[in-house]
Amino acid sequence: MYKRFLITAALPYANGPVHIGHLAGVYIPADIYVRYLRARGREVKFICGSDEHGVPITIKARQLGVSPQDVVDKYHTIIKNSFERLGITFDIYSRTSSKIHHQTASDFFKKLYDEGKFVELSGEQYYDEEAQQFLADRYIRGICPKCGAEEAYGDQCEKCGGTLSPTELINPHSAISGSVPVMKTTSHWYLPLDRYQAFLEKWILEGHREWKTNVYGQCKSWLEQGLQARAVSRDLSWGVPLPLPETEGKVLYVWFDAPIGYISNTKELMPDEWEIWWKSADTKLVHFIGKDNIVFHCIVFPAMLKAHGEYILPENVPANEFLNLEGDKISTSRNRAVWLHEYLDEFPGKEDVLRYVLCANAPETKDNDFTWKDFQTRNNSELVAVLGNFVNRSLVLAGKYFEGKVPPISELTDYDKEILAEIPTIRRRIEEALETYKFREALKEAMNLARLGNKYLADTEPWKLAKTDMPRVATVLNISLQICAQCTIVFDPFLPFSADKLRRMLNIHPLSWETSNVNALLPAEHQLGKAELLFEKIEDEVIEQQIVKLRTTANSLAMETKKIAPQKESISFDEFAKMDIRVVTVKAAERVPKTDKLLKLTIDSGFDLRSIVSGIAEYYSPEEIIGKQVCVLVNLEARKIKGIESQGMILMAKNDDGKMCLMQASAIMDNGATIG
Ligand code: 2FM
Ligand code: ZN
Repeated sequence: MYKRFLITAALPYANGPVHIGHLAGVYIPADIYVRYLRARGREVKFICGSDEHGVPITIKARQLGVSPQDVVDKYHTIIKNSFERLGITFDIYSRTSSKIHHQTASDFFKKLYDEGKFVELSGEQYYDEEAQQFLADRYIRGICPKCGAEEAYGDQCEKCGGTLSPTELINPHSAISGSVPVMKTTSHWYLPLDRYQAFLEKWILEGHREWKTNVYGQCKSWLEQGLQARAVSRDLSWGVPLPLPETEGKVLYVWFDAPIGYISNTKELMPDEWEIWWKSADTKLVHFIGKDNIVFHCIVFPAMLKAHGEYILPENVPANEFLNLEGDKISTSRNRAVWLHEYLDEFPGKEDVLRYVLCANAPETKDNDFTWKDFQTRNNSELVAVLGNFVNRSLVLAGKYFEGKVPPISELTDYDKEILAEIPTIRRRIEEALETYKFREALKEAMNLARLGNKYLADTEPWKLAKTDMPRVATVLNISLQICAQCTIVFDPFLPFSADKLRRMLNIHPLSWETSNVNALLPAEHQLGKAELLFEKIEDEVIEQQIVKLRTTANSLAMETKKIAPQKESISFDEFAKMDIRVVTVKAAERVPKTDKLLKLTIDSGFDLRSIVSGIAEYYSPEEIIGKQVCVLVNLEARKIKGIESQGMILMAKNDDGKMCLMQASAIMDNGATIG
């Protein structure tokens, strides 16, 4: 039996504000879990803070022409405030640029170093001679060897999602000076993960079969590939300096220091007691993270803790998958997101609506999509129509017939008993789901309690009984109000603001989760408070505004900061007029065998049927494109592609990240209509 619960939520990078993807993936489930544990009287600490090191922060600072410290100061404040306003109840939200963290991370490294737990390896790395510094992987850009996208990063291609190493990039250049980098020797310290392979296999694959399948599966696949040594230092000036002589210009790798941030922040919170929390076997340590953090929390950090020797290991790492937004990826760099601080300003008093929607739709087992329409529907047909309606009817009827007092039970019918017996069953289901990190299911069950109340009122119709049988009305409303009181308990972890409001309406203090007597949460004659609406309907205009906002603001940040492709040189009108561009209809389409990207299209140009080979197979299936009107340069010289004669070119728009879409006229036109 665990004595204390140490719950951590991934430290967000302080290079941008928090968005709904972070919330649904990590912070809302973590907060629900922590609130639930507290309600059950457990001793809990909820630890988080900003992750303020790493290359993305230095890149942001460079783009904005300010120092990395300025960047993290700005975002740390925004992030911390917005979490507070959403009711995320961290016991501490600190930061990794703090003194205590630098000291803790530095000591951790030093202990492992002194005990010979690292290996020092030297190798060649890209160096920018103009900027006179080694280049982090993110600072090297070039052509992706896997998909041909330009401007892929040295560690990853954003277009195909492939993991890269900088030496694989074709035509690499430095993102700092633009110059071609050279290879130069440098040395780094590595954590030889292979030495921990056997331990990790036993601990995870045998000892933690209960982990979520997405987490367990990822660990299994890493372990099956065989673990390799990982560098824990970097040539960079921003971070925790290496505590070794003659290592100027080197810092700890951000993924080495960040998880130690959980320890530093606990230390800052409880300078005298932190060790009991991190070093006793009766502490349950749980890390809430997103799926991109699994390897660091399940493999690298546990190996670090094991190497250190004094710390406990996580009992569970309930990682979520990703949340998309209106059918496409959320992207900080493209400003394509719903930012928490903006939501809070634009939807005052609707913190719980966001908490509800993001939990109900959390990407627990697979990636999920957030849409504003779904947000509206869940608010209007679930929060308003089910929970809000039930509570409101119970309180209004008690006001009308019993002067706002809880009426006494006279006699229970079999149906009443059935309803009352359902309550502990629902509570048990909620508990089971929460204990196993199934937050969507838990919330669904909580809603079932409100549904049960609504059904009870609809079946008994106390407003009709009021004419003939007041003792029966009293019993029905007593039971309904007991269910309302139960709702304050079970909804509290999910919808804390609304649970609070409901408590005010019922005129009660917070009730303990352990309360077992469902009939007596509210004694007869208890004076209720004023009935108010728990939730309000959200109108179509509000939703439309958000959809328009997303369409118009996405990419504006990218415009500010990214390198825009240079304009081509001017041409004369005559040169332009030489291009014969037409609206045409795609009549047939098929994949070109043995290629991933090419489609062979047959088009009706208005004056002939012809074939065009086009590299759009990644974006459109043959079925999708057949019947579409598109724009084609019809007088481009014919050429053979994969043995097929291609007579023209389909016009496409292309993003910097390689994403493409068809150019189409805004109304149906005749085939052969000219463009110019
Ligand atoms: O992915 C991220 O946002 C990282 N900043 C998470 C770090 S979690 C922990 F290790 F600090
Ligand atoms: Zn690629």
